[in-house]
Amino acid sequence: MTGRVFITGDKHGSMRMFFDIAEKGLAAPEDTVIIAGDTGYIRDHEYPLKLLTLQRLFPGTVCFIDGNHDNHVILNSLPVCEWNGGRAHRLADRVYHLMRGEIFDIGGRNVFTMGGARTVENNYEGEEGVDFWPGEEPTAEELRMAEEKLLSNIGRIDYVISHEAPLEARNSIPRFKKLDGDYVLPAVLQSWYDRLSESPDFKKWYFGHMHTDQEIGQKLRCVYNNLVDLDSGLAIRWH
Ligand SMILES: [Fe+2]
Repeated sequence: MTGRVFITGDKHGSMRMFFDIAEKGLAAPEDTVIIAGDTGYIRDHEYPLKLLTLQRLFPGTVCFIDGNHDNHVILNSLPVCEWNGGRAHRLADRVYHLMRGEIFDIGGRNVFTMGGARTVENNYEGEEGVDFWPGEEPTAEELRMAEEKLLSNIGRIDYVISHEAPLEARNSIPRFKKLDGDYVLPAVLQSWYDRLSESPDFKKWYFGHMHTDQEIGQKLRCVYNNLVDLDSGLAIRWH
């Protein structure tokens, strides 16, 4: 297993964590950081400049899943490549968007990814095309394909990283309890979590979106400001 893997939550355009990582020398070229959606770095066509800054600050590989405040129109216009066994968009030399419903082998860890969420669930009053974009919520077809991949690999998945939370986790965070009747993603994620929980090798499900750092039960963990070492579960002191 080479290099450490870090997981962190929604950045909404802020690079403060990465400036601190650079200043304190907390990461090495063999390390990988995964942001669990809502990076806020991919908003308009100036994103390459932001990603060059990100690469300058983080010496290893930067990966992210999409949230509901990332520009899916730009992401979906990019060519698809393969990265560590799954489909990704390469946005810069060392920056990858990990696509929905994929499994990546990151230094021997099998990581299943599922981006996307619904903005209105946060009672967020933003403007479409400025604050959120079409495609934020996984389609029925994306969910079907993701489920097929998950269920056919259920015994070999070590970690899940999603933006939205399984229903059980959502219900533990009061301000996120309200759901529109037709918004199925948290219930779908819950059914996947129930299946994964039966697998002895499954270690942890990390998600963002809720803007809190919180463990929920044995294997669910919401990440936001924390920079968590995927293997040990320890939060790295970065500020
Ligand atoms: Fe979000």
